Amino acid sequence: MIDKNPDSQITGRKGWPLAQRVGHIEPFHVMALLARARELEAAGRSIVHMEIGEPDFATPESIRKAGAQAIERGETFYTPALGLPALRQAIAAFYRSRYGVTVAPERIIVTPGASGALLLATSALINPGDEVLLADPGYPANRHFVRLMDGVPVGIAVGPDSNYQLRSEHLQQHWGIRSKAALLATPSNPTGTLIEPDELCAMAHFAAARGGALIVDEIYHGLVYDGAAQTALALREDVFVINSFSKYFNMTGWRLGWLVAPERYVDAIDRIAQNVFLAASTPAQHAALAAFEPETLALLDARRDEFRVRRDFLLPALRAIGFGVPQQPQGAFYIYANSAALAPDSFVFARELLEQAGVAITPGIDFGAHAAHEHLRFAYTCPVDVLREGVARIARFLKP
Ligand SMILES: Cc1ncc(COP(=O)(O)O)c(C=O)c1O
Repeated sequence: MIDKNPDSQITGRKGWPLAQRVGHIEPFHVMALLARARELEAAGRSIVHMEIGEPDFATPESIRKAGAQAIERGETFYTPALGLPALRQAIAAFYRSRYGVTVAPERIIVTPGASGALLLATSALINPGDEVLLADPGYPANRHFVRLMDGVPVGIAVGPDSNYQLRSEHLQQHWGIRSKAALLATPSNPTGTLIEPDELCAMAHFAAARGGALIVDEIYHGLVYDGAAQTALALREDVFVINSFSKYFNMTGWRLGWLVAPERYVDAIDRIAQNVFLAASTPAQHAALAAFEPETLALLDARRDEFRVRRDFLLPALRAIGFGVPQQPQGAFYIYANSAALAPDSFVFARELLEQAGVAITPGIDFGAHAAHEHLRFAYTCPVDVLREGVARIARFLKP
């Protein structure tokens, strides 16, 4: 039925209905940069891509085959909204074998990517006007998920002194009467830095003591290079943990992730999932069952080791040409570099670098407001030879 009441619609600038919340949703600036890079490539230019936030490795063959076989078998119907029971069990078994942590499969909700998990967690927790504490810089979509729930994202400036992460003292300082949750990512996008387990524990305790929630995005967990990361699930049962098949499992395009929620939330989240997306992709869920086979995990670990080699090349190379990276990033595939000594504005710098030197990198403004114009994110999602060429081009651009 068409609602004829004009007051029930929000009017967009040109007189067509557009919800006010959309005004808060910014694009990923890197998308425009990527589109321009593709344009230049189509015109015959060589571009080094250090802006792309996904692994350059194709999904392992065992996973691709399992997906293709599922389609051949006719596994094309909806699964339960919470996910294929066998996959929820496989994820629980993965927590046991990788982390030594017991997680009941009933608490695991399979989602369309970590993005689907973020949508479920924020919609289950946030009322209009509720505040959610976030690190600035941080993954840009997080503040937009909060906005979509008509909540208020509270970006907290973080820097090298806290390893570019929130700490319990930040929560103590910024938690107010409208605060409902803190949303963290470890390792972080864009900085690749980790939160120490005792800090995670202190923050979870702090939020719980105030009737709030801690949401921990562990999407880059399989990609940690210095020691092993411990899941927040090992620390407390009442945290919300987000993860995905996108990054460590090299499955970005399959759109599959998961959320581990406290048991008392599962029924509410089931109802939201049923209504919002019915279920994650069925062939993708069958494919993901092969992700936990020992040979597949061995291949993925070898690819993780390749990412470590790239980080160990790129970090000193960037420092040598004048970028500031005070903390060694321990995970993900990103280096968040301070460019203040080299250029007054990183956004302008990124554009010029693409046009003049053929290197694409992501400007800091994609990740928040704090010192954003002094930072750039380099993704090492291409082989060392390509990274070497990228660094050489940047060096020539800086000192022609
Ligand atoms: C920190 C973080 N969380 C979530 C996502 C979304 O990932 P997915 O592909 O699993 O939806 C990304 C993607 O880059 C990310 O960097």
